[in-house]
Amino acid sequence: MNTSFDRHAQTAVPIHPLLASRQSTRAFEAGYDLSDDQVTALLEAARWSPSAGNSQPWRFILARRETGEFKRVLDSLKPGNREWAQHASALLVGVRVDSNEKGPLSHAAYDLGQAMAHLTFQAAAEGLTVRQMGGFDADAIAGEFELPEALRPTTVMAIGIAGDPGLLEESVAGPDRSPRGRLTIDELLLNG
Ligand SMILES: Cc1cc2nc3c(=O)[nH]c(=O)nc-3n(C[C@H](O)[C@H](O)[C@H](O)COP(=O)(O)O)c2cc1C
Repeated sequence: MNTSFDRHAQTAVPIHPLLASRQSTRAFEAGYDLSDDQVTALLEAARWSPSAGNSQPWRFILARRETGEFKRVLDSLKPGNREWAQHASALLVGVRVDSNEKGPLSHAAYDLGQAMAHLTFQAAAEGLTVRQMGGFDADAIAGEFELPEALRPTTVMAIGIAGDPGLLEESVAGPDRSPRGRLTIDELLLNG
């Protein structure tokens, strides 16, 4: 990637290299198709994520590049996201299941997030990069794909091979060219 500084996580002690090197890129290599095995591996990683009562309150809409579904998901993104996400190999909508036959699923958002995290690291292991988005119209996706009320689109994830941020418009490439930061462990520990 074309950056002059190290975008790896700076950690007090070493962590797993996949975790340390993961980052959400906006630049994707255009024209790359995910293999069926790659897609299956990503979905398997999500499928085997833990959840409250094993309720598995996650569903997905997978839209590969150059399909009508891809365009429908892309159209739901905020313009700033659409600009870079159009080059991704696939867009994956993370859909939360808010209730089932037993009643409300109070940890659905938490569980979906965890499934997405598992998928993210499988993607890293496959040499892929992902960037998640909250900047999209959930109602538009729900309408386009005729989802019942209990199924709520929660994030859209762009998946592909990391590309060259130098090819992106300055207005959208910013995050790929900036240092990455985090709160310190001391700031996170409430009882430190
Ligand atoms: C739930 C969620 C929503 C996000 N929404 C957007 C978005 O709409 N557009 C965007 O460019 N990045 C989005 N991001 C990416 C974050 O900005 C990014 O993960 C964060 O800045 C940390 O960078 P890193 O993943 O490289 O460590 C989102 C990430 C998450 C997890």
